Amino acid sequence: MSDINDIDQVRALLEESRAWGFLGPGPVDQHITHSMTYVHAITGAGTVMDLGSGGGVPGLVLAEVLSTAEFVLLDSNIRRCEFLRHATEQLGMTSRVRVVEGRAEELARDDGLRHRFDAVVARSFGPPSVVAECAVGFLNNPGVLVVSEPPGDTSSRWDAKGLEKLGLAVGERISTPDGSLQVIQVVSPCDGKYPRKTGTPAKRPLF
Ligand SMILES: C[S@@+](CC[C@H](N)C(=O)[O-])C[C@H]1O[C@@H](n2cnc3c(N)ncnc32)[C@H](O)[C@@H]1O
Repeated sequence: MSDINDIDQVRALLEESRAWGFLGPGPVDQHITHSMTYVHAITGAGTVMDLGSGGGVPGLVLAEVLSTAEFVLLDSNIRRCEFLRHATEQLGMTSRVRVVEGRAEELARDDGLRHRFDAVVARSFGPPSVVAECAVGFLNNPGVLVVSEPPGDTSSRWDAKGLEKLGLAVGERISTPDGSLQVIQVVSPCDGKYPRKTGTPAKRPLF
């Protein structure tokens, strides 16, 4: 685990991310505490992907806190990836944190990324079916996908039959004062046809 000075450095970089317009609304500290809610669900994972890392949440915070895990921060946006590379350099973490630029649907076919991750985290990436289909190709078996959830009862968002097509099942729901998460577990091998080609998960959702 990192000390308070390292989190201060992450905070400063997230302020920078905010100045570039890469971070959502609300105080930077709220983004940090929300990112921290993922820690419980992925502790012990040796390899972690932040799917759609954008301005660096939760990926930069988690990479700082879980200082022995290897991370990939993936995003299709060129400028956000430039910022993420700059941030990982500033934080001195480039030996174990890699920024990968491109569409998840395509990168999930890359041998170096396919089924390489014990955990995939996602925050505000897209609707559940899109997150699940875009994440599944990256996950190891066993592995977990951990997704931020809106407040309230969200159980109807995750369709068991739809997830089954991807070899996934609904896991633990984590609710904290700082935010809620849904854990999705890999329960059987993923059919090689997933994810479908770029844009299809959103155009023709599985559930
Ligand atoms: C709404 S932002 C959220 C960013 C960050 N996780 C957060 O919570 O602030 C979604 C990010 O996902 C990226 N993204 C969306 N669909 C993608 C895809 N299919 N492949 C790769 N990146 C994608 C976008 O470029 C964007 O940076």
